[in-house]
Amino acid sequence: MGRHIIGAAADLPPGKNKILTVEGRSVGVFNVNGTYYALKNSCPHQGAPLCKGRVTGMTLPSEPGQYVYGREGEILRCPWHGWEFDIASGKSIFDPHKCLVKTYEVAVEAEAEESPSVETYEVKVEEAKIVVYI
Ligand code: FES
Repeated sequence: MGRHIIGAAADLPPGKNKILTVEGRSVGVFNVNGTYYALKNSCPHQGAPLCKGRVTGMTLPSEPGQYVYGREGEILRCPWHGWEFDIASGKSIFDPHKCLVKTYEVAVEAEAEESPSVETYEVKVEEAKIVVYI
């Protein structure tokens, strides 16, 4: 499994996502309420660029006749035919047992930047980076 630094965590605030190519694969990286997730940018239905879809919420299970909307920012809707996926798990909302998008491991890691002076090894900047493992 390869470790790929894809950018500074500060550049991808909650609610934002970006699509990039890692090891020849198109991957969408999402910040959902401060947690980072990575999904393959390909819908299991007909291969649409899924990560270009809208990030939304969903109707939650509730009493008959009631419609409760929630989980805003946690659901990704395919731009072609509207299939919806849970960004955290990659599972389809309507058929979670059979239909899912491939997910990749994401970590936020502190990269220490050392000063050029060999004697001091002073850590100048410590900035959190988003790392995707593919
Ligand atoms: S290709 Fe995604 S819903 Fe059809």
